[in-house]
Amino acid sequence: MRRTELCSDLYMKKANKKRMNKILEEILIIIPFVLVLCILSRCIPNGTVRLNIGESGISEKAIALTFDDGPSGYTEELLDGLALYEARATFFVIGSKAEKNPEIVKRAYDDGHLIGNHTYSHIDFYKSTLTEIEENITKGSDVIEEITGSRPLFLRAPYGNVNFIQLKQLDSFFVHWSTSTYDWFKEEEDYIYKRIMKEAKDGAIILMHDTREATIKAVLRAIPELQEQGYELVRVDELLSRNGAKIKMGVPYRSCKYDRGAVAF
Ligand code: NI
Repeated sequence: MRRTELCSDLYMKKANKKRMNKILEEILIIIPFVLVLCILSRCIPNGTVRLNIGESGISEKAIALTFDDGPSGYTEELLDGLALYEARATFFVIGSKAEKNPEIVKRAYDDGHLIGNHTYSHIDFYKSTLTEIEENITKGSDVIEEITGSRPLFLRAPYGNVNFIQLKQLDSFFVHWSTSTYDWFKEEEDYIYKRIMKEAKDGAIILMHDTREATIKAVLRAIPELQEQGYELVRVDELLSRNGAKIKMGVPYRSCKYDRGAVAF
């Protein structure tokens, strides 16, 4: 009798252990599904917001020259050159610098260039919380709107640092670039000029900084030559909306081919 009780006790313990193991296995299978669903739920909403600028009427051979981190003491010389060649460009300005030199930003806007947001203090998204990033972007947009009367639509993340989740969480139209001139790395007119000319192709978005004298000299040398090759130098919004293409939020646009439309990643 005692022996039978012992056996039954052992059997119950074994059965309970088996049941617990099964429950644990099921939990381990469910967790990844829940995580994927959470990520997807954050990704879906802003992908549905589309910007329709309308047909920009830009030709089949166009390039967007973009300048980050200004305004600076060199920006006005660049604006003079752009006016001389009747070229349009995009300036991703830093809010704190724009605040100190509002007249330069106002002139760029009045001259017909696009003013984009490069955050208020050049914040690194990889090292910041979502709240810090949102506040910094809003502060940058507020400064630009105060100066130009127009709220910037486009954002370029400092250093290009923005991860997939942030792209989806931030309600912004992102512009990256197809070509960097590496003018931050090598401040030499010839080097920057050659980079521009080598990488010039239809739909290119070229990254430069209007904070360097060598960049201004190089780009003003390149502009008439690019125009001679038949390129139209346009703003990023004009380039991205060629052929009436719509622009989606949360997508890092890098170029815009005439026949393929805006290209991300
Ligand atoms: Ni920057």
